[in-house]
Amino acid sequence: MLRWTFHNPVEVTFGEDALDRLPAVLGARTAALVTFPEASALGYVARVSRLLGPALAGVVDDIAPNPDVAELSRLHARFRHEFGHCDAIVALGGGSVLDTAKVLSVDAPTGGFPELARLLAKGVAFVPGGVKALIAIPTTAGTGSEVTPWATVWDREAGRKYSLHLRETWPEAAIVDPRLSASAPRALTLQSGLDALSHSLEAIWNVNANPVSDSLAVSAARRMRATLPDLVEKLDDSRLRSEAALAALEAGLAFSNTRTALAHSISYEMTLRHGVPHGIACSFTLPLVLGRAIGTRPDRDAVLARVFDVPLARAPDELAAWLERLQVSTEFTSYGVTAEESRVLVESALAGPRGRNFIGATPG
Ligand SMILES: [Fe+2]
Repeated sequence: MLRWTFHNPVEVTFGEDALDRLPAVLGARTAALVTFPEASALGYVARVSRLLGPALAGVVDDIAPNPDVAELSRLHARFRHEFGHCDAIVALGGGSVLDTAKVLSVDAPTGGFPELARLLAKGVAFVPGGVKALIAIPTTAGTGSEVTPWATVWDREAGRKYSLHLRETWPEAAIVDPRLSASAPRALTLQSGLDALSHSLEAIWNVNANPVSDSLAVSAARRMRATLPDLVEKLDDSRLRSEAALAALEAGLAFSNTRTALAHSISYEMTLRHGVPHGIACSFTLPLVLGRAIGTRPDRDAVLARVFDVPLARAPDELAAWLERLQVSTEFTSYGVTAEESRVLVESALAGPRGRNFIGATPG
């Protein structure tokens, strides 16, 4: 019998107004709030400030989308100077905020950010010189970063993407309050939901899958497919917001144990070179990748069959039609990539670290 391990140390609180649990989660510690520029206008900063009182040491709210090493270098130094004395970071925002907070939560073993950047570029694990507890509060239903240890860091100058991953970068706690995503506009809601759908399917056609990640991934994929088309038409529907938040959480828990696979490997190039937002970049190829996955391994086919209500052979076309109805093109040419370029891109993505997690990357 196959042996497997499922591990996720994040304490999750889920539900409307779950944010009110923040003082209990923080306990007798002090924290800095790391958030996005609009958080003040949306009333989130005042709410966290009311909840934490003097335990809140300050706010960093100029977190840019898709954190880049050059920006992180300045931010890391400033954060250490202003909030080095804090016990914890409360990260409230989308994937970029949560990933930036993970980088801010650790120090390099001996030096400042340049050492951290060198270790990131090498992709090696290290023991941080200092660690702050991280409480992650997502405001989008998609990234799953609140229940994973990974932070994506871009190096636009070098044209590369790094992944920070340490034992110390698991959040201590995640507070998933679907009401916090209520203000997300249609495009962000759609992109976040598609990112979560991608996480769920990538956890299934994955060499690291296990029965627990499968259960979470199937539930996430079915829930998001049933929810997203209605949600983008009814952005203020609290039941749909809650369903999307739960689907994104389930998908995050699933891929926290498998990592992503080919669709994400393709997406990094599409984001870096062609400027396609992450949620679209990692989902427009899902029908293509599904087609490559089917027939590779009978046990994976059996799990994929639980996601779709049509025979598996028809699932890629059905998924493509579902995406097209959401006005997401499944053709590379729609994103400025020719058919020939796309073949080269897919082959090189298969050879990348995430691509090698794909069940179709190696024979058998
Ligand atoms: Fe993703």
